[in-house]
Amino acid sequence: MRSRLVAGNWKMHGSLAANRHLLERLKPGLQAIDGVQCTLCVPYPYLAQVEAALAGSGIAWGAQNVSEWPQGAYTGEVSGAMLRDFGCRHVIVGHSERRALYGEGDKQVAAKFQAAQGAGLTPILCVGETLQERESAVTEIVVGRQLAAVLDSSGVGALVNAVIAYEPVWAIGTGRTATPQQAQAVHAFIRGVVGRQDAKLAAGLRILYGGSVKAANARELFAMPDIDGGLIGGAALVAEDFIAICAAAGRN
Ligand code: 13P
Repeated sequence: MRSRLVAGNWKMHGSLAANRHLLERLKPGLQAIDGVQCTLCVPYPYLAQVEAALAGSGIAWGAQNVSEWPQGAYTGEVSGAMLRDFGCRHVIVGHSERRALYGEGDKQVAAKFQAAQGAGLTPILCVGETLQERESAVTEIVVGRQLAAVLDSSGVGALVNAVIAYEPVWAIGTGRTATPQQAQAVHAFIRGVVGRQDAKLAAGLRILYGGSVKAANARELFAMPDIDGGLIGGAALVAEDFIAICAAAGRN
């Protein structure tokens, strides 16, 4: 049976004071939940704060982006080794906001995936189509292409230490969640693509759903056979909502 994972993506939100308040509430709530790994992907400047608050708690943390380079003259960039220095376990790569707003293409995302693993981090690889792509019925072509970029550069074996997050762009921050059936169909497609190369690995691969997951819809999404948890944006900033979503990921 695949273990469940719920990741909070704080995006560019927070302050020392707000984080302290949030972490004080999250910690006991998340620790009381069995059978679900929870992780918080926070802005770089708050990694030390999160590390101090969560060390030894069983709750993991990570970042939202990583450089594809190990070190060097790359002003403003942060390497995987730097993230490891602050105890990060996970890092999001290829989030649609990075792809759309910062021009990250499949090749660069694949390089970041590889750099993350090279530094000992578990990448959470985001894939997903835009509304226009869905309406043009090319969802599988787009998601397949995003996946192939990583499979081609790292090889299917690399997915042993990785997580995939299906995040339809039209569902992110819009309140318009994919239906459990829509999400399940794409999750099954992803598992199938990986499974054609390595069936055993595909059966153990965790695939998260992201896009307007709330306490009210989490349970029905997580009940689908190929949905192994969630990648949560807005609701990860509200302690009781994130705790409820993580609790919903417990095997029903
Ligand atoms: P929302 O949960 O706010 O829709 O964001 C999803 C997301 O982008 C997580 O990475």
